[in-house]
Amino acid sequence: MKPERYADDAVLESRYPDHVNVLMSRHDSALERAGAAHAVIFSGAPLPVFLDDYDYPFKANPHFVSWVPLTGNPHCYIVYTPGDKPVLIYYQEEDYWHLPPASPDGFWTRQFDIRVVHSRDDIAAHLPDDRDKCILIGEINDEAWAFGIERINPGTAVNMLHFERTAKTAYELECMRAASRRGVNGHLAAEAAFREGKSEFGIHLDYCDAVGHAEHELPYGNIIALNEHAAVLHYQHQAKRPPERTRSFLIDAGARFNGYASDITRTYALEDDDFATLIERFDDLQQELVGEVRTGVEFADLHMSCHLKIAKLLDETGLARGSADTLIESGVTAAFYPHGLGHFLGVQVHDVGGRQGDDTGTAIAPPEGHPFLRLTRRLEADQVLTIEPGLYVIDMLIDGLKATGGFDRADHARVDWLRPYGGIRIEDNVRVLDDGCENLTRDAYAVSEAR
Ligand code: GLY
Ligand code: MN
Ligand code: MN
Repeated sequence: MKPERYADDAVLESRYPDHVNVLMSRHDSALERAGAAHAVIFSGAPLPVFLDDYDYPFKANPHFVSWVPLTGNPHCYIVYTPGDKPVLIYYQEEDYWHLPPASPDGFWTRQFDIRVVHSRDDIAAHLPDDRDKCILIGEINDEAWAFGIERINPGTAVNMLHFERTAKTAYELECMRAASRRGVNGHLAAEAAFREGKSEFGIHLDYCDAVGHAEHELPYGNIIALNEHAAVLHYQHQAKRPPERTRSFLIDAGARFNGYASDITRTYALEDDDFATLIERFDDLQQELVGEVRTGVEFADLHMSCHLKIAKLLDETGLARGSADTLIESGVTAAFYPHGLGHFLGVQVHDVGGRQGDDTGTAIAPPEGHPFLRLTRRLEADQVLTIEPGLYVIDMLIDGLKATGGFDRADHARVDWLRPYGGIRIEDNVRVLDDGCENLTRDAYAVSEAR
């Protein structure tokens, strides 16, 4: 399946020069703050497997990917000097064991002065001579690839870039819409596979086929969970055989487009039963939270608003009894919903800068008792983030309520009813607007329904 199908090439091409201009301007400020003259952004080097002669799948430096849509090109560099056209040192190794990367091609190439090199020795000539005025951004596991640059990832520059990277450019938003459409294609194929009675592994294969990603190209390991497995937040296995009786399906899976990720979760009931009704109610709850997203909202407040809604839902559905305040204070909501409401999304699935209070790196701590909340900032226009409330039966956490007085507030007969279904999570990707948000995920479903 070709990525072109998910986005309009002419639109991408028209938005890209401005994107590069924004990156240049952000790097101008970061270089000034760091007192440096050149930014050298390294794509990364593959990590070799211990005692063996092959590498782990290559994961490119996200800073590099935000400049160029190259996710599978190790040993490349961008050299940015304010006032100059950015240079891309493009590594095309002469290697008869592996297929070297194709020559650079595509809409993005015009924004760079591209220097194709064929060996490590050729790289140095294209780096600035004044290495002491360079900062290098990237992961250096072997000094040889730093070429004598000593300032690696200085906080002065990197904190600024991370803080600003959370607001997406028009080009990035196009890529993220495309990543959502691509992911939704996979989700539709996965739902069909679930209804056909396939195993977790079979569903996973159908998903990968529909999005056109090999496993290592996925933005994160697919979470493909049938029945009780849906209660394992980051369930990491794929059972090769279907369960004796399939009841429910939770899938948390994304896709990439030009390096940008989507991160989507859906939960399904096989039958039109009480669990299906609970999913519908939970979907309403998730949509209410999406409806609260807008510029100026403190994300930690939205996370607490989710606890309030879950407390009411627990009481209404008889899973627990008590006022919302009591269920929150006694830890009952946290036992059923033990993760954060969402996180920034971009080149990285858990994108950077979620806890930064400013561009110097000052951290904003999560609310007490919610250490896993990855996003504690006030929302700003064009940030893209996930909204992903959940509700699960996790016995370890329910047993833990014995210490807080919450255990007796749960209705254990109702909890026994829910346990075989595992749980529910519904996750959309949204772009913050001044008066609400753009829901990339629901928009992508609407496009697929219209086809
Ligand atoms: N897919 C991991 C998450 O939703 O954060
Ligand atoms: Mn997520
Ligand atoms: Mn997810």
